[in-house]
Amino acid sequence: MKGKFVVFEGCEGVGKSRQIKLLEEYLINNGIKYYLTREPGGTDISEQIRNIILDGKNVAMADECEALLYAAARVQLIKEELAPRLNRGELIFCDRYVDSSLAYQGKARGLGYDFVKKINSYAFENFMPDLTVFLKLSPEDAFKRKGGADGADRVELSGMEFHKKVYEGYLEIAAENPDRFAVIDASGAKEETHAKIVAALKAKGII
Ligand code: TYD
Repeated sequence: MKGKFVVFEGCEGVGKSRQIKLLEEYLINNGIKYYLTREPGGTDISEQIRNIILDGKNVAMADECEALLYAAARVQLIKEELAPRLNRGELIFCDRYVDSSLAYQGKARGLGYDFVKKINSYAFENFMPDLTVFLKLSPEDAFKRKGGADGADRVELSGMEFHKKVYEGYLEIAAENPDRFAVIDASGAKEETHAKIVAALKAKGII
């Protein structure tokens, strides 16, 4: 593949969207062309699948069904956007990718990494990121930063337990894939985190 493929990962509330915005400003200011997309979504069909997955009405959805829908949305995004763009040599940034499925469905939902790898074999065998930028901040710290006790109150205990497992999952996956992961401490000021991300992209020869 001629292009470069970079993915952003992290738990809820770590400032991922804000960091992606800051990076976009940096890329534009430096005249670096890029394509930004997100998961689940990024194509018309994948966005329709996203609406099914994230629809609050669908409480009856089985964990396996959820995992398969993420995988289905992903294959569509790869075939419609990622593969052609990487073949043309483009620089692609994606907000979440297979590591989200490993951490959320594999670890936190308890389906296991092997199951997630199996149903995502198309992505694992053909389209892995050159770099996964993991914004490291524990869910407890993320909620504290959002507003202390108030933020913590809004999160049910079961919700917090789930997010802690997601976090543990990410740490395990990052430890198993040190070459592909840049683990960025996201506990500091947003400018500090931004500078670390830019440094990681430069170190990997992405920009
Ligand atoms: P989104 O509103 O985009 O959240 P965020 O801003 O945190 O990225 O919703 C995406 C949600 O989907 C998020 O809670 C993570 C979850 N997700 C999975 O559980 N598995 C996956 O494979 C992906 C891509 C996302």
